[in-house]
Amino acid sequence: MSEFQRTAIVTGGARGIGRAIAEKLAIDGLRVGLADKDEEAATQAAQRIKSSSRVIALEVDVSLRPSIEKMVDEATRQMGNIDVLICNAGIMDRAPFLDMSDDFWDSVLKVNLGGVFKCGQVVAKKMIQQGKGGRIVNVASNSGIFGGRGRAAYGASKAGIINLTQTMAIELAEHDILVNAVAPGPTKTRSDQPDRPWPSVINRMPLARYGRPEEIAEVAAFLASPKCSFTTGHVIGADGGFTISGIMEG
Ligand SMILES: NC(=O)c1ccc[n+]([C@@H]2O[C@H](COP(=O)([O-])OP(=O)(O)OC[C@H]3O[C@@H](n4cnc5c(N)ncnc54)[C@H](O)[C@@H]3O)[C@@H](O)[C@H]2O)c1
Repeated sequence: MSEFQRTAIVTGGARGIGRAIAEKLAIDGLRVGLADKDEEAATQAAQRIKSSSRVIALEVDVSLRPSIEKMVDEATRQMGNIDVLICNAGIMDRAPFLDMSDDFWDSVLKVNLGGVFKCGQVVAKKMIQQGKGGRIVNVASNSGIFGGRGRAAYGASKAGIINLTQTMAIELAEHDILVNAVAPGPTKTRSDQPDRPWPSVINRMPLARYGRPEEIAEVAAFLASPKCSFTTGHVIGADGGFTISGIMEG
């Protein structure tokens, strides 16, 4: 199947990493549904993407199944089959473990982990119905690989995504649906972020800088492509070496 005929949904595509992934997939020739809770920002992002003729904006709240089903129906109506799902929508809220409320915990888990489960299940059923296989790429984080201050809920949600990716890969393999995750490290997505990450990050990151959204998008685009044909259930770090480093000096 040529790239031109392939179709993708990118959740959380209105800004940051999701927008960069949507743009990369559009440049690669896919038709892209850029789905976000913030519909206005999604519409603006879709219009700004260079290959905008191949990008449509969709509204979705990934924590709510009826909203996901409506979004997938609309994507299907406008674009036909869904070949690729990028589960990128997430909230990066932080709070100290001892002060964390149940509501805070529930809200982070509901969007980050629940969103991947629900979007993945709805779209996988559609891919199975279509009978042509597919690719699902979940956006995890280095916070899902090791602990981090303030990240009890966020880190647990991302660790959950990594394990969910493995199980989805096992259960969806018979349908030729390959499921992988990309785990970004600190990535500069906003202009008000400092030029360099905190010293506690820099000191253990071989590449010692923020990632750019486009660098994460390159990895996600490979995992979403037909070229990724014998890799499933894996998490690929796009993190400047942050998660592999040990002794950095001496
Ligand atoms: N930026 C980083 O340093 C970094 C590092 C590791 C992992 N990540 C992960 O990458 C993903 C994107 O991060 P980002 O920095 O681009 O975030 P961002 O906040 O810039 O963008 C996230 C997008 O998701 C949307 N969104 C939030 N909740 C939603 C919901 N319930 N339904 C639909 N859309 C929703 C937002 O409206 C926003 O457009 C997240 O999953 C995040 O956890 C980011």
